[in-house]
Amino acid sequence: MIEKTIIQSIIEEAVNAPSGDNSQPWRFEVSENLIDIYNLVGRDATLFNFRNRGDFLAHGALIENIGIVAEQFGYTAIVALLPEEGRSDHTATIRLEKATEKKGDGLFKAIRERATNRKIYKAYELTEEEKKSIEAIKSEGSAEIHLATSRDDVQALATIVSLNERLLLENKHIHDFLFSIIRWTDKEEEGKPGMHVETLELALPQRFAFARFKNWKFVQWANKFGISKFIAKENAKLYASSSAIGAIIMAGDSPKDFILAGRLLERMWLTLTDSELSLQPVTAVAYLAQRIKAGEANELSAAHQELVKKADKETRKILSIGDETIAMVFRIGKAEKPSRKSIKVKPDIQWKE
Ligand SMILES: Cc1cc2nc3c(=O)[nH]c(=O)nc-3n(C[C@H](O)[C@H](O)[C@H](O)COP(=O)(O)O)c2cc1C
Repeated sequence: MIEKTIIQSIIEEAVNAPSGDNSQPWRFEVSENLIDIYNLVGRDATLFNFRNRGDFLAHGALIENIGIVAEQFGYTAIVALLPEEGRSDHTATIRLEKATEKKGDGLFKAIRERATNRKIYKAYELTEEEKKSIEAIKSEGSAEIHLATSRDDVQALATIVSLNERLLLENKHIHDFLFSIIRWTDKEEEGKPGMHVETLELALPQRFAFARFKNWKFVQWANKFGISKFIAKENAKLYASSSAIGAIIMAGDSPKDFILAGRLLERMWLTLTDSELSLQPVTAVAYLAQRIKAGEANELSAAHQELVKKADKETRKILSIGDETIAMVFRIGKAEKPSRKSIKVKPDIQWKE
């Protein structure tokens, strides 16, 4: 029997994990030394969260955190992924056992420090050694990290991933969902998932424009003057400030594959945080390409589908990816700390006798 307060502390530390749109799509059931984790399906209703893959990735990050925090508290976390056949919302059962020796891999402190950093990154070239050591990071499973670090490749990928901003301002589904989860004031953010506008790192004029973009009619009007393309171009410059743009890839595309990719993402992100390197996921193209491939992209115009397909093809070429699944695209670099960290809500834990 483990004290309730210990399990509660482990969960409360571990939920400092990334999730699509800061949706934090999880709840917990605890009985004795078992933690069951469930996905809150539908909370992250963005078009990007194709087949809940973004959720599975976030759960992977959460599970990786639980393992690290448990070790810090003197326990080993034995993880069974997707323990109920035919039920993918039950993402894991974790059994905590008293550790025979205190391990701890030093990443515990980074869990609270880790944050998505959307700032412009400083001019900094990763050494070949740094690149290799990032690509060598492993967690459970066989997902891998591929990085592009040459100026030409980073620039080309920066332009590709900036398609995100264009789609956001040209597709009503993507637009409406994003603006539904933006929190404009501290009060609005309190106790809710979602993203505070300050985490987007917009300069004052951009922030002013962004507030106007909430109105779809206004965006449509502004697009007549090319605003979506202009903003994508500006963002491409921001993304090009990165030292590397990379991807997490794997052979399969099952929920389990995405959970394992999430574990690797979190381990990499914590390791980078520990080395004072920043990261921002930039995933739109990767997830929309999967939707198109599956023939489930009715919400995207034919022209947008073509742009996404081309972007996916170029990403694969630059990062030497064959027909593996791209679980996540991200950028890495050195930067000032984020202006604001996103808040995490108190986790929903049901205690079972
Ligand atoms: C599956 C997934 C996809 C994401 N995609 C993006 C993205 O395209 N652009 C972005 O700026 N952040 C993206 N993020 C980062 C989340 O917005 C971020 O994790 C969340 O707002 C919580 O903030 P934190 O990471 O600082 O804790 C993504 C995160 C996950 C897990």
